Amino acid sequence: MKRSTLFAAIASLSAHLCSAQDVSSYKNPIITGFHPDPTCTFVAELDNTTFCTFSSFLTFPGLPVLASRDLVNWKQISNALSRLEQLPALAFVPRGSTSGIYAPTLRYRDGTFYLLTTLANQALYPQNYTKWDNFIMTTTNPYDSGCWSDPVHFDFPGIDPDVFWDDDGTTWLTGSFDGKAILQAPIDLETGEVFGPLKDIWNGTGLPSPEAPHIYKKDGWYYLLTAEGGTRERHRSIMARSRNVDGPYEGDPANPVLSAYLSHSYFQAVGHSDIFPDRLGQYWAIALAVRAGYSYNFDPYNSIFPMGREAVLTPVEWPEGEWPTFMNVSGQMTGDFVLPMNPSLETLPEQGEGVLAGSDDVIDFAPGTTLPAHLFHWRLPIPKNYAISPEGHPNSLMMRSSRYNLTSFDGDSTRGLGQTFVARRQVHSRFRFSVDVEYDGLLTREENEVGITALQGQSQHFDIGVVMLKTSSSSPEVGSVQPHIRFRGVSETAYRLPSRFKYVDETFPLPDRLCHGQKLRFQVEAVNTTHYAFSAGLGGVEGETEMTTYGYTRGNYLIPYYSGVVVGPYATSNGKFGEGAFKTYISRWRYTGLEQVRELPEDQLPVYWD
Ligand SMILES: *[C@@H]1O[C@H](CO)[C@@H](O)[C@H](O)[C@H]1NC(C)=O
Ligand SMILES: *[C@@H]1O[C@H](CO)[C@@H](O)[C@H](O)[C@H]1NC(C)=O
Ligand SMILES: *[C@@H]1O[C@H](CO)[C@@H](O)[C@H](O)[C@H]1NC(C)=O
Ligand SMILES: *[C@@H]1O[C@H](CO)[C@@H](O)[C@H](O)[C@H]1NC(C)=O
Ligand SMILES: *[C@@H]1O[C@H](CO)[C@@H](O)[C@H](O)[C@H]1NC(C)=O
Ligand SMILES: *[C@@H]1O[C@H](CO)[C@@H](O)[C@H](O)[C@H]1NC(C)=O
Repeated sequence: MKRSTLFAAIASLSAHLCSAQDVSSYKNPIITGFHPDPTCTFVAELDNTTFCTFSSFLTFPGLPVLASRDLVNWKQISNALSRLEQLPALAFVPRGSTSGIYAPTLRYRDGTFYLLTTLANQALYPQNYTKWDNFIMTTTNPYDSGCWSDPVHFDFPGIDPDVFWDDDGTTWLTGSFDGKAILQAPIDLETGEVFGPLKDIWNGTGLPSPEAPHIYKKDGWYYLLTAEGGTRERHRSIMARSRNVDGPYEGDPANPVLSAYLSHSYFQAVGHSDIFPDRLGQYWAIALAVRAGYSYNFDPYNSIFPMGREAVLTPVEWPEGEWPTFMNVSGQMTGDFVLPMNPSLETLPEQGEGVLAGSDDVIDFAPGTTLPAHLFHWRLPIPKNYAISPEGHPNSLMMRSSRYNLTSFDGDSTRGLGQTFVARRQVHSRFRFSVDVEYDGLLTREENEVGITALQGQSQHFDIGVVMLKTSSSSPEVGSVQPHIRFRGVSETAYRLPSRFKYVDETFPLPDRLCHGQKLRFQVEAVNTTHYAFSAGLGGVEGETEMTTYGYTRGNYLIPYYSGVVVGPYATSNGKFGEGAFKTYISRWRYTGLEQVRELPEDQLPVYWD
């Protein structure tokens, strides 16, 4: 009998308790957009709910926690990192595209959630272990950001910390060291004391960067699941097991247990997984993947996958005493499994602060509201630079400009200063995002600028906004500044040849149609899977308004290293006049998902650089 049929039969016997589980298909990514390095824990006593979190790099609030009962519909319920005092150092980390909050592990034990993670500072030398600031946060209420504890820091000379509680009462810390080995020692989670020496328990199967360890105990075996091969094309999941927690571990003869390397799948770089059970006793793995296609195997930075590393789900068969087997990841998963609940919005937890992952935004910044949990800043915000519906400006988000723009002074850090910027993730292959901005009489000096961006990092972003510029000398108002529409962008990164860098800077006098006194609407739309269009129109109107496109960029100029594209409004004086040079008011924030592409589009143009 097919397992799913068996479960359906069992479920129907208990139909008076719950409805039948008979859905044996779902779509990947299960959580779309910038959600790398997933980790999940299933909690039977909290309504059979699975809780997950992800690397959040420079976003603040960070470490978003999402919950689901059917494994298809996910709701953000909190941000484990939501108070400036929790991690002041986040304001200072340089190497914007590779530093920040790294791969967490989320676990639940005896009523408490434990989250272990690392604040990485990639500007420091590898031998300087202060580059890895490891810490633990806990909560007994994952539905409330405010309930997550302050970090308890602990010494570990590496990344990807995992916690495992053994039956004898020992709590084990396991992590990745120097891209070479998996190290382990007992830890006291309350004090952060690590009882060294650290023991090298696994060196991997020979590829670089054994990392992301997770330990599970099952049927008398300790299983060690790791990632290997680096986080790009050779990335994969590797399984090993031992009769003792500290080894020696033997590798699964079937390794890699999960990989897309050299496959023709749209889903590449599959790995960095975590296994959890469901209420029916089945096992699942969550992993990261990029929607990049076959060419990614040969030239990963010559592909188009602006959303970066997303979260995918795959069923795991794990018979007693045997190695687990993972189903390969694809956009449409079907097979010998049933979802733990039939997918429905009704299965979503009622508690929690956020919204359904992947849902559209209709945000009007009503008086008395706060920023929704899925919106964030880049590094730590300066609180006085933001206010919702301040006196005289209902239904708006006040933003005071930062001196630094989105590139900042070096495309890399901000020296602890803020960048006035609020964003959300791109979570659809095609989407439309727009806000209205108020600028007239507010932006008065040269290079005062407010607009929206599609941003991969400080050195890869494309912006459209209104900027005050001196008019040309032939103009009657010589010397005065006038509003212009500016489409500007930069795409340069250390992992691409300078011949593949891109700079655009185009200004247009404000057309009569967008006359003074009115708000402006700025919009970025992924018009297909390769191109983003940047447009402007008249704001302050309900519903659609005529938009004019001022520029395009292609997804290959927004290539993720560790993160994924985010979109949102910024306000800057571009290096002039210090902090807070002007105020602006953002309103009518809209994000609409238009299409989710789950197979490499046949009409995708070959990548080109110009
Ligand atoms: C969790 O699932 C188990 C197994 O199906 C079931 O017996 C139990 O009632 C469920 N708990 C809740 C709170 O629904
Ligand atoms: C390591 O980095 C810290 C900054 O976090 C710095 O103060 C220290 O001098 C560095 N140590 C070495 C040996 O470079
Ligand atoms: C890992 O490699 C190091 C260096 O070659 C060796 O000393 C160590 O014993 C190895 N550890 C394991 C667990 O194989
Ligand atoms: C899964 O993908 C791997 C890597 O591409 C491949 O070697 C393997 O044959 C695939 N397995 C199945 C069952 O398709
Ligand atoms: C995607 O949109 C851009 C901009 O409109 C266009 O130049 C390009 O040809 C489109 N690609 C496809 C495959 O239609
Ligand atoms: C950012 O601001 C600096 C001045 O601080 C300026 O030189 C640079 O052109 C601006 N660039 C972008 C893309 O924002």
